Amino acid sequence: MAKHWKIGLFQSMGLMGSWRMPESTSTAFLDLDHWLTMARRGEEEGADFFFLADDYGYPVVGDGIPASAVRAGVQFPKADVSALLPALAAVTDRMGLVTTLSTQVELPPMVARKLATLDNLTKGRVGWNIVTGAGQNASARLFGRELTEHDQRYAIADDHVDLTLKLWEGSWDDGAVVADREPGVYADPDRVREIEHEGPFFRSHGALSVPPGPQRTPVLFQAGASEPGRALAAKYAEGVFLAAEPAAMKAQIADIRRRAGENGRDPRSISCLIAGTFYVAETEDEARAIRERQRSMRTLEEAAASYAFYTGLDLSRMDPDKPLDPSAGLTQTGRTNVERYLGPNAPTVREILEEFQANSVMGAPYVGTPEQVVDAAQEVLEETDADGFLVQPDHAGDFDRFFDLVMPEMRRRGLIAPAGEPTTLRERLGGSGPHLDASHPGAAYRRATEPARA
Ligand SMILES: Cc1cc2nc3c(=O)[nH]c(=O)nc-3n(C[C@H](O)[C@H](O)[C@H](O)COP(=O)(O)O)c2cc1C
Repeated sequence: MAKHWKIGLFQSMGLMGSWRMPESTSTAFLDLDHWLTMARRGEEEGADFFFLADDYGYPVVGDGIPASAVRAGVQFPKADVSALLPALAAVTDRMGLVTTLSTQVELPPMVARKLATLDNLTKGRVGWNIVTGAGQNASARLFGRELTEHDQRYAIADDHVDLTLKLWEGSWDDGAVVADREPGVYADPDRVREIEHEGPFFRSHGALSVPPGPQRTPVLFQAGASEPGRALAAKYAEGVFLAAEPAAMKAQIADIRRRAGENGRDPRSISCLIAGTFYVAETEDEARAIRERQRSMRTLEEAAASYAFYTGLDLSRMDPDKPLDPSAGLTQTGRTNVERYLGPNAPTVREILEEFQANSVMGAPYVGTPEQVVDAAQEVLEETDADGFLVQPDHAGDFDRFFDLVMPEMRRRGLIAPAGEPTTLRERLGGSGPHLDASHPGAAYRRATEPARA
C-alpha cells in the first residue's frame, strides 16, 4: 500500500486574510482558549503536526508601514508563537509541534537551548522551521541593522544550523544522564563536553546546558523555495513546505530530492508538503460562493502591501500592464515570490496583484465538495511527487470544515493514517527512529562510542 499522506496544520499568531468574514475566528489570536481548542481538535482528528509560522517583519513600502496594512491587518499584528508552544504541549500528546525561528534573529545557542528544552517537555514532538525571515526590510529597520544580502542570509543559515546541530548532537552522549542519588551523580562528565565551532559566521566553544530530548535534534523543516533556499533544504531539511502551481512544485521537489541524493542523503527521507487551502461545502455552488466572498475581502491595495512584505517590491508604483522587470529577481528581500512571476509567460503587474489578492503566496486553492477537493488533492500529489499537505486555514480562520468534511473523506479512501499511539514527530513523519537519519550531516556530530573512564 502507498504511504499515508502527512497532514500539518498551518497557523500564524495574527490575522488571516479573511478575518472580516463573520464566521472567522482569527481575531481571537490573542486568546489562549482559541489555540487550545484548535490544538485539541487537531490532535483528536489525527493531524500529524501543528505548524506555527513566525517572523519579526511586516510590510514596509517607501519609508514606513502602509496605512492599508495597519488598517486591514496585513502581516501586522503578529504575536510571538514561542509563547504558545508549552500551552499547546500541555493539551496534546500525539501531535507534533513545529515552530519557526529565524537564523537572522536568534543565535545558535539560543535556538539549541530553547528547542532542546521543548523537545523534553513535549516528549519528542518538536520541529524547527528554519527560516532566514520573510519581512527582511522591516526586521532590519526594527533591529537597527543593515539589510543582509539574500544569498548571504542563506550562507549564515547554513553555518547557523551546522553549529546548532553540533550543540544538539555533540554536547551530551547517550547515557550521559545518570541521575543516581546515592553516589550523587547527575551526569557522567566523560559523556558531556564542549563543542568547537569555527565557522564563517559563528564561532563557539561551549556546551548545551540541557540534556537532549527524545529526538536530540528537533525535526528540521525549511520553507524558502529560492535557489539557496532549496540548497539549504537539500542539505538539512527533513520536511519542506512548498506553495506554487503544481508544475513549479513538481520541479522544486525534484530538484530538492536530487540535491539531497547528491549530498549522500536518502531523497525520500524528506517529506515535501504542499501548503494549500480547502474551501469546502456540501455542494460545489456553496463552496464557490464562500470562495468568492473570501476573495472579495482583500483589496488590491492590501494585496500590494502583502506582496511588499514578502518581496520588498512595491507593485503599486509599477506599470500595471507590464510584467515585472527581470532585475526584480535580484531583490534582497524574499525571492520565492518574485521568481515565480518571471520567465517566458510572465504575468503583468496587475495580474500578479490579482493573484496575490486571491491566493497570496499560495497556489490555487481546492474548492468544492469533499469528494471534489480530495480528488483534486490526489491529482496534485501524484503530479508533484509530494508527501502530504500543510493545510492553511480557510475563510473561517480555522480547520473546523477541514476536520468535519475533508479528513473523513481522506480517511474513507485510506489516504491518511489512523490517529495512532504517541510517538516522536520524527517517527510520525516516517523516520525509522527518534534520531536524525545516519545520512544526515548532523548525525556525524554524535559520538558513536562511549569514551572509557580512566
Ligand atoms: C508554507 C510556508 C510557510 C512559511 N513560513 C514562514 C515563516 O514562518 N517565516 C518566514 O520568515 N518565512 C516563511 N516562509 C518562507 C517565506 O515565504 C520566504 O520564502 C522566505 O522566508 C524567504 O526566503 P526566499 O528568498 O528563499 O524566498 C514560508 C513559506 C511557506 C511556503
